Amino acid sequence: MEIWHIRGGNRLFGSCRVQGSKNASLPVLAATIALPNRSVIRNVPRLNDVSAAVSILSHLGCRVESTGQDNELAVDSRQVCCAEIPRGLMEEMRSSVIFMGALLARCGEAKLSLPGGCQLGKRPIDLHLSALRAMGAEIEEEGSDLCCRAERLHGVPIELRFPSVGATENIMLAACAAEGKTVIRGAAKEPEIVALQNYLRSLGVHIHGAGSDEITIDGADARPEASFTVPSDRIAAATFACACAAAGGRILLSGVQYEHFSTVLHFLKCAGCDIIQFNDIVEIASNGTLHAPGHIVTEPYPGFPTDAQPILMAALLRAQGTTRITETIFENRYRQVGELRRLGADIRLDGQEAAVHGVRSLRGASLTASDLRGGAAMIVAALSAGGETTVIDAGHIARGYENLDDRLCALGADVRLEHR
Ligand code: EPZ
Repeated sequence: MEIWHIRGGNRLFGSCRVQGSKNASLPVLAATIALPNRSVIRNVPRLNDVSAAVSILSHLGCRVESTGQDNELAVDSRQVCCAEIPRGLMEEMRSSVIFMGALLARCGEAKLSLPGGCQLGKRPIDLHLSALRAMGAEIEEEGSDLCCRAERLHGVPIELRFPSVGATENIMLAACAAEGKTVIRGAAKEPEIVALQNYLRSLGVHIHGAGSDEITIDGADARPEASFTVPSDRIAAATFACACAAAGGRILLSGVQYEHFSTVLHFLKCAGCDIIQFNDIVEIASNGTLHAPGHIVTEPYPGFPTDAQPILMAALLRAQGTTRITETIFENRYRQVGELRRLGADIRLDGQEAAVHGVRSLRGASLTASDLRGGAAMIVAALSAGGETTVIDAGHIARGYENLDDRLCALGADVRLEHR
């Protein structure tokens, strides 16, 4: 259990190198077992979800070692000896489900159970299962257990009715071992999908189209060694930008890709922040006085990311006027709202619509983190609240943010993390 103590009111100044992307690292780590190889993965953030992925890889027979360089992992998947993932490991995170496609590609079977992760709604995996079945996998579902078998996988055209990130990743991995061409239409276009394509290419997989809505995978000339650098985390970058907008100040984010979080920056600009981009650096300046930036609608990439919705909401609690938000991706992504109201926020909910009426000030309170991004939202809000806020967190925030307390302190925030 972690307790965050945040004393709001300090402006943020300085620079911050943004961590590698959680949601790009996890599928790449799962992908290391799709074909036997030795991979060096750079810029892997130190996160609880990454530790969970490493535990799964070790359980399956991989050797995973730190190379001695910061944030670099060496994975040797040549001796994978098992196709079963225990329930306890599956439940540690959502991305464990991506091992299904990877294990089918490698072993022709996968025994696992439904994944864990943030409780953001129903989060079914029907798109994953129907696509893998269309590729020739037999999948038995018994309660939450999944038993998958495929003597042979074959490439087929697959049409996704929704551009699911996880389903697209699972199909890409299974397709590495399929006979013939797999074409995913209606694919997710997130930067994490492009990252996975780049890693698979370094393994010798013939794949193109990631970043568009049609991805083609057509076999592999497998290579024994691969290396890959994880891109920066667009949601972590958005979190620091929102923190600066809320608290006021001027910060430089380095190692970032502007276009990956430009939708978030767009709303911060409309709210009154100054934003400058130069190469892989983005500067955000805010005098702490914001105004409502218009209507925010979450959408699949390149639309506004659902993961940044709670965080931008938190930055706009004191913005003059009314900010309207429509959440279209998850049914239950307003779990932060009850806690933000304890700080004095005026947020009205009506189904998937939220209206944030800017208040003059927020006051510190005792909050409980509901999920990863909801927890981050509470920290952002607390930075602009008077007095002390405590956030009780059962490990959600460390699932996605590397040293968030140290990074915020280095920017001048008054944040202390207590481990109990
Ligand atoms: C990924 O989750 C991310 N997680 C999430 O980030 C992110 O919020 C989400 O994509 C959307 O961008 C990882 O990459 C590990 P989806 P994923 O499948 O793959 C429905 C974070 O905070 N759907 O694109 O689970 C589903 O219910 C996390 O870092 C089906 O109906 O998302 C949801 O409404 C939280 N059937 C929508 O699609 C399916 O088979 C989007 O889900 C699959 C999904």
